[in-house]
Amino acid sequence: MPGPIEDRRCRAGALGHPLRRWLFPARVELDPLEPLRGAHVADLGAGIGYHVERLLERIGPTGRLYAVEPDPDHLTLLTERFGSDGRLVPLGRSANSVPEIPDAGVDRVLLSLVLCCVVDPGAVLDEGYRILAPGGRAVVTYPAWGIPTARRRRYRLTEERWARLVRRRPWLERSSERRFGVRRRVLEKPA
Ligand SMILES: C[S@@+](CC[C@H](N)C(=O)[O-])C[C@H]1O[C@@H](n2cnc3c(N)ncnc32)[C@H](O)[C@@H]1O
Repeated sequence: MPGPIEDRRCRAGALGHPLRRWLFPARVELDPLEPLRGAHVADLGAGIGYHVERLLERIGPTGRLYAVEPDPDHLTLLTERFGSDGRLVPLGRSANSVPEIPDAGVDRVLLSLVLCCVVDPGAVLDEGYRILAPGGRAVVTYPAWGIPTARRRRYRLTEERWARLVRRRPWLERSSERRFGVRRRVLEKPA
């Protein structure tokens, strides 16, 4: 008997797998977020920090990086690696409410493989919109396919579901592409 539907946890080993690094190097998500130098960035659902090293490189000495991650094991791994960096603000909470980040408090939002793990992706995407400054940009990725078991169907982002999500706020959708089964969308908050 499956338990109640809840946000999914992921295996740390899968997140840092060499095959992922080969097929989906961090730059695939970070290039569309440029320019990043001096930017304040929120990595929502940061996991073990797959993008953190490259983000810290790109934001430079005056940038700031909020790494929001509710799984304590993942957040521990992330802070063990990067926690000594004063530009990093690790936050152990769900991305559907991040009161530590003020309205319009960041220039860039990264949601890499997160909306496909949460029961309420609308709440998470809305929170991304709230914290993003006008004219700011978000990159959102999620699997474009998967075995639609009954349980997985609950998390699946079909085209119709995506269209409903993105209509909840006046996002401007700048691009959408599919690479090796992963959908990658670039959104902007109107200036
Ligand atoms: C597939 S992993 C992706 C992690 C990271 N973004 C990456 O690209 O490697 C999904 C992450 O979302 C996290 N997560 C689950 N529910 C969440 C929520 N409500 N808010 C933020 N993150 C969540 C999981 O703990 C996991 O670390």
